[in-house]
Amino acid sequence: MQTAIVTGGAGFIGSHLVDRLIAAGYSRVVVLDNLATGSWENLAGHPPEVVWRVPHDICEPWDPSPLAGQPVDLVVHLASPASPVHYRRLAIETLWVNSKGTGNALDLARHFGARFVLGSTSETYGDPLVSPQSESYWGNVNPIGPRACYDESKRFAEALSMEYHRRWGLDVRILRFFNCYGPRMQSEDGRVVPNFIRQALSGEPLTVYGDGRQTRSFCYVSDEVEAIWKAATLPGLAGEVFNVGNPEERTILSFAELVANLVGVPLVVKAEPLPEDDPKTRCPDIAKARRLLGWEPVVPLEEGLQRTIAYFRQRLTV
Ligand SMILES: NC(=O)c1ccc[n+]([C@@H]2O[C@H](COP(=O)([O-])OP(=O)(O)OC[C@H]3O[C@@H](n4cnc5c(N)ncnc54)[C@H](O)[C@@H]3O)[C@@H](O)[C@H]2O)c1
Repeated sequence: MQTAIVTGGAGFIGSHLVDRLIAAGYSRVVVLDNLATGSWENLAGHPPEVVWRVPHDICEPWDPSPLAGQPVDLVVHLASPASPVHYRRLAIETLWVNSKGTGNALDLARHFGARFVLGSTSETYGDPLVSPQSESYWGNVNPIGPRACYDESKRFAEALSMEYHRRWGLDVRILRFFNCYGPRMQSEDGRVVPNFIRQALSGEPLTVYGDGRQTRSFCYVSDEVEAIWKAATLPGLAGEVFNVGNPEERTILSFAELVANLVGVPLVVKAEPLPEDDPKTRCPDIAKARRLLGWEPVVPLEEGLQRTIAYFRQRLTV
């Protein structure tokens, strides 16, 4: 029996990863989630004896005795609010889940002798002074700004994971996700993809912050999950960090045009001031992932958006 533990597995990326692990032959996935921003509904396709739904705040240690004597070979730590709306609302919880929570998830991996995959973020680069960002760039982060609860705690999570690797030889792999999108995102979480799609589907103007010339890159969730899978299973990657994202960069304004086009509505924009510390550019250098994981995104933006729009169309009409 092959068992994996996924913290935050009831969330957007986590639930897709659970699907992937089961499809790849895992006979059990233990999901630890406090439902701060996730939902068990995202795991509805799996029987409860195969995918365990364990309501648990990972800021507290999880007692692994229900798995006593059973091998666990993988711990993936994804628990954390991920969108600015949620991590501002849950600022202190975000700091704790990425610090105490990461420590508890690392201890679980140590307990089982499992490989540990950390879901980190491009936000560790802050408002970058170089673009695209490669893994060797150290970032430009404001430690006391409104995004610091997320950026700084993820940087701490990376540092802690590396020290578990150095001190105890834990097989740690760190993934810095850039913007990811797809079905099961929450329509109200304030991220640009669900925002634009929800607004376009409801006939509202699309909210663009600043002049819309800031750039983002968007990676479809199945591509993202494939990178996690490869990083979790390929040998010889202990202590490595990878950017995971789509290097195709777009201005927010051209993205708004594309969404309006695909939904079939004229583009009407509502301009709002740029939030404090909002990064002007966000583009991954994925040369390392290409080289060591043999990975790159394959789902074109139009196709991924069509699938996401179909999901939101269905959700918003029921
Ligand atoms: N989606 C993206 O574009 C993106 C980009 C960069 C990094 N990430 C990282 O990927 C991970 C998953 O993001 P997502 O987009 O799926 O977000 P999400 O909010 O959909 O999922 C996060 C999950 O973690 C759970 N959670 C939060 N705090 C917890 C706690 N204390 N204990 C247990 N569970 C807790 C939530 O309930 C939720 O199910 C996060 O760590 C996030 O920082 C995501």
